[in-house]
Amino acid sequence: MLSYRHGYHAGNSADVLKHFILLYVLDYVKKKNKNFIYIDSHAGAGKYFISDAYMQKNKEYLEGINKIIRIKNNDFFLKNYLDLVKSINFNTELKIYPGSCYLAAKSLRIEDKLHLLELHSTEFSNLKKNFEGDLRVVIENEDSYKKLKKLLPPKEKRAVILIDPSYELKDEYEKASKMLLECYKKFPLGVYIVWYPVLNNKKSESFILNILKENYKNLSHIEMITDNSSNGMQGSGLFIINSPWSIEKDIKESLKIIFDCLKKSKDLSKLLFKNNIN
Ligand SMILES: C[S@@+](CC[C@H](N)C(=O)[O-])C[C@H]1O[C@@H](n2cnc3c(N)ncnc32)[C@H](O)[C@@H]1O
Repeated sequence: MLSYRHGYHAGNSADVLKHFILLYVLDYVKKKNKNFIYIDSHAGAGKYFISDAYMQKNKEYLEGINKIIRIKNNDFFLKNYLDLVKSINFNTELKIYPGSCYLAAKSLRIEDKLHLLELHSTEFSNLKKNFEGDLRVVIENEDSYKKLKKLLPPKEKRAVILIDPSYELKDEYEKASKMLLECYKKFPLGVYIVWYPVLNNKKSESFILNILKENYKNLSHIEMITDNSSNGMQGSGLFIINSPWSIEKDIKESLKIIFDCLKKSKDLSKLLFKNNIN
């Protein structure tokens, strides 16, 4: 039985980092001028309303999107992400925080496709409502641990695949790294973005080591510790496989701006950026 609802966390600092990277990667792939498919293995609801009880419970967005959207900056890549969030809000007050698949749909072109998997029945029906009429999008109420590898390789031959589990099951770190490896073996050309939380436990550490020991091609690893003061999530990280070759040059400065804006405890915060592009 799934209990995780992304509405509790929508727009927090982890979402800002993940969605910033996602848009950067999508823009990079779009530059190749060939159509592709975006696959979201754990899609969520797509759109989250700030006034909703979920978002109001812990108000995590106040430490994330609400902070970063107010800063003045001319950074090209950060501006792209923030302008898209603003445009979804009709360039007025922030009322909606868009999830990964909604941002992706806004960023993709008419010729691109989206395939979204969501297991939670309520989130699945919200997702369907949020994409009504968008003929580019296929949405399935399926378990990504069974379904994702069946979608690969896609007929488009090019894909960006976001793997963004809620890690609510005991063995979910193992399941996620196993799924990633199986998908990569079936479709080594895909661009995979994998998100994980930084927690005070061994599970997320061994998840990271598991990914690092595989021979994934062009692997970027980004991690941001913004809050070392709590026992909950201290930060978050992402792996990108088949990462854009210019990623470091492109977004190093943007990441620093995001980090400086979102970090809470100055001394213990950390930004990691490792690249193995060959
Ligand atoms: C972290 S949230 C997704 C957030 C979303 N990707 C975003 O960035 O806006 C994880 C989602 O995965 C769903 N989920 C959990 N287990 C799943 C599974 N095995 N297959 C598909 N979806 C699953 C949860 O219901 C939840 O909505």
